[in-house]
Amino acid sequence: MTTNFFGIIGKPLSHSLSPILHNFWFKKYKIHAKYSLIEIEHNEIEGIINKIRSKELQGINVTTPYKQAVIPFLDQIIDDAKETLSVNTISLNKEGKVVGNNTDVYGLEQGFLNKLKKQNLEKNKVLILGAGGVTASVIYALSKKGINQIFIGNRTSRKAEDIKKKFSFIEVIEWKNIERVAEKMDIIINTTSLGLENGNNFEQDFKNVKPNLIYYDIIYNPEETMMIKNFKKKLIKTYNGLEMFIYQGQKSFSLWNKTLPELDENLKNTITSKLK
Ligand code: ATR
Repeated sequence: MTTNFFGIIGKPLSHSLSPILHNFWFKKYKIHAKYSLIEIEHNEIEGIINKIRSKELQGINVTTPYKQAVIPFLDQIIDDAKETLSVNTISLNKEGKVVGNNTDVYGLEQGFLNKLKKQNLEKNKVLILGAGGVTASVIYALSKKGINQIFIGNRTSRKAEDIKKKFSFIEVIEWKNIERVAEKMDIIINTTSLGLENGNNFEQDFKNVKPNLIYYDIIYNPEETMMIKNFKKKLIKTYNGLEMFIYQGQKSFSLWNKTLPELDENLKNTITSKLK
């Protein structure tokens, strides 16, 4: 029996739980395949993508910092990857073309936005913190819900301005003003790496926010960042990025294996047990 090979490229990768997720589903659905961490340097991207072309690899996920960097090496980008210019899933199509897709948008929709019971979601003001690899997917997912009052603050403002070139309706704010702008927001989404295990935290304490604010953190490891802990103390509704992570994986898996895997309690417990 032949084995199919999949993996995730990025750097650093030690924190990635994608192998746990995909290998769990391979076992559950009795698919002969293996999913591994492939930590690479920038100059190795082309070589890895060529392994898709030569069928040594059947699928690749892409994480930070290569979600944009892979694009020049692909034959085609489609669907949400085209809308965001951010690729997290690569495969070979029937015509032998290496195709880049994006499942982060679906992940955010299924894992967060579709759960919100808010009325008139489109009237919400949203502050996005950060302008990294996943930020364009967040903006696109919000815009599909009709939300267009989007403010974005990033330490390096040039990167936020770059994203505005694609999404002209967003408003770039200065990093030093994020706390003040946060006071008027209905939803705040953290797409920075602030709050990661053993990393830096926000210096701002976001004391004066609306009582019905919703705070979403892309981070899922640790399960509760400092920001989530602080907002919870004030009884503010918070979400972490675990469901987004699982749903983006679900869509990648279905693109590669033509099976939409189930999200059962056993899977969530397996993932949660691996979190710090
Ligand atoms: P990449 O930028 O390579 O796509 P990422 O992990 O997706 O990497 O994004 C990191 C995000 O966290 C960026 O928005 C980064 O801000 P800069 O663009 O200014 O680097 C943000 N970030 C990381 N450390 C930070 C810190 N100490 N203070 C503020 N923002 C920080």
